[in-house]
Amino acid sequence: TPQTRPVVLIAEELSPATVEALGPDFEIRSCDGSDRESLLGAIGDADAILVRSATKVDAEALAAAPRLKVVARAGVGLDNVDVKAATQSGVMVVNAPTSNIVSAAELAVALMLAAARHLSPAHAALKNGEWKRSRYTGIELYEKTVGIVGLGRIGVLVAQRLSAFGMSVIAYDPYVQAGRAAQMGVRLVDLDTLLAESDFMSVHLPKTPETAGLIGADELARVKPSLVLVNAARGGIVDEEALYDALKTGRIAAAGLDVFAKEPCTDSPLFELENVVATPHLGASTDEAQEKAGVAVARSVRLALAGELVPDA
Ligand code: MLT
Repeated sequence: TPQTRPVVLIAEELSPATVEALGPDFEIRSCDGSDRESLLGAIGDADAILVRSATKVDAEALAAAPRLKVVARAGVGLDNVDVKAATQSGVMVVNAPTSNIVSAAELAVALMLAAARHLSPAHAALKNGEWKRSRYTGIELYEKTVGIVGLGRIGVLVAQRLSAFGMSVIAYDPYVQAGRAAQMGVRLVDLDTLLAESDFMSVHLPKTPETAGLIGADELARVKPSLVLVNAARGGIVDEEALYDALKTGRIAAAGLDVFAKEPCTDSPLFELENVVATPHLGASTDEAQEKAGVAVARSVRLALAGELVPDA
């Protein structure tokens, strides 16, 4: 069938604002990007594809998409897009690098507070009819030291929020200058110092060959046993086996986890531990972040399909 309007394929659930921002110029179709057959069946006609985290836009998917001009990811990372393969086939890749940074930062703080106050087991016990006040005595964030691993857009927001809790904030980030960090009231340190001094730690890095396994058994051997560790960035930056051992043996106190090495993840041994509070990659899952991400990628797709320059953010 001849197509008059370019086809925009929405491969995951995106905010309704996305379709609105795309406007009337496109034929909008949808598929279940997490289902390979559904994706490969639909991508053949697509001029643009919009995804979140569940759709693997890899070399095979790109090869099945001869008309494709742009891959848009409604989020910060590009983990599920083969950018190199896309570039080689002349397909533009866009994302929404600031859309969900506040939401990600807020979830990291939520996980930190939840872990510090045993919210998850206390909640489960109460709903189970148990009123156990002494069992769930927690600790304050106030006057503790938090180590931010990765002082980028999200790490900075976490640092600001935790400063307001009266925490002393240190950070490890080889790409940030000490002066810039100091302006925000953050002391830049090396990883060893951060590991030794942190009462709480929160990871805010992209996953790359350098960051995968950055926090492993060696690192966890050097932290305070009272450490509360949060990862709402990417699974596998904190080695899951090493983390499990550290939590199980009391080498560290607790963890708050939103991301896992392999997702979806429903049967991790970590889930058996009472000192783990876990969520299913919800960092970006707010009305506000999804609206911002959807509108941002819709705009980029409009520009890309009109053959115009797509600005960075
Ligand atoms: C991101 O990279 O921004 C998030 O992982 C996006 C998402 O949760 O879909």
